[in-house]
Amino acid sequence: MKTISVAIDGPSGAGKSTLAKSLSAKLGYVYVDTGALYRTIGYYVFSHGIEPKDQEAVTAILPEIRVEMCYGEDGLQHMLLNGQDVTKEIRLPEISMYASAVSAHPPVRAFLLEMQRQLARTNNVIMDGRDIGTVVLPDAQVKIFLTATAEERARRRHLELEQRGTPQPFETVLQDIQQRDYNDSHRAVAPLKQAEDATLLDTTSLNFAEAEQAVLQIIKEKTR
Ligand code: DC
Repeated sequence: MKTISVAIDGPSGAGKSTLAKSLSAKLGYVYVDTGALYRTIGYYVFSHGIEPKDQEAVTAILPEIRVEMCYGEDGLQHMLLNGQDVTKEIRLPEISMYASAVSAHPPVRAFLLEMQRQLARTNNVIMDGRDIGTVVLPDAQVKIFLTATAEERARRRHLELEQRGTPQPFETVLQDIQQRDYNDSHRAVAPLKQAEDATLLDTTSLNFAEAEQAVLQIIKEKTR
């Protein structure tokens, strides 16, 4: 059976995961959050006191790492690092920059590539990330590039961190977003960029329901 893949790429805070999660439940697709894979490696590097920008050091520890994804009874994606559930830990704000730094190393990207492709071969997926439409699933039937201004993304992220009980000042959140935007779009391998055949959706002035409707419309048109 041929599976359907929906690739959603874009910068941090554009609303990819919230939209993808909700749409996957509606469509009965498996939601794959690929940022969580990079975060898991970032977390390992962080907890072992390794400099995340040191490609050699990061590459050297890859054979020690087993990254697994599973779906909990809550229906949510859980990340296992050498058998330990690190789903919560990888969301700590300090892990974001570690994930961004380790994701720039080609051996890290190669390490995670096949896992992502295998999931799409065996399931209908909505996969979100930075390079899904360009590198991971270049043949995806639906490709969406989701974006919003840095200020609006920082505003959403600021609120999310507050609700999660790990608040940070708005200025810090904005600077973090701008730094990650720069890192993620300037790395040499698989940088964040819109695939030529992706549909651009700017959610700056859309609320959640409007953005969801717009994405649903694109999916319907492309899978008709
Ligand atoms: O989506 P996120 O914020 O959880 O992702 C964390 C970092 O991982 C992000 O700064 C860049 C990297 N990433 C990537 O390089 N490629 C992906 N497909 C997903 C995330």
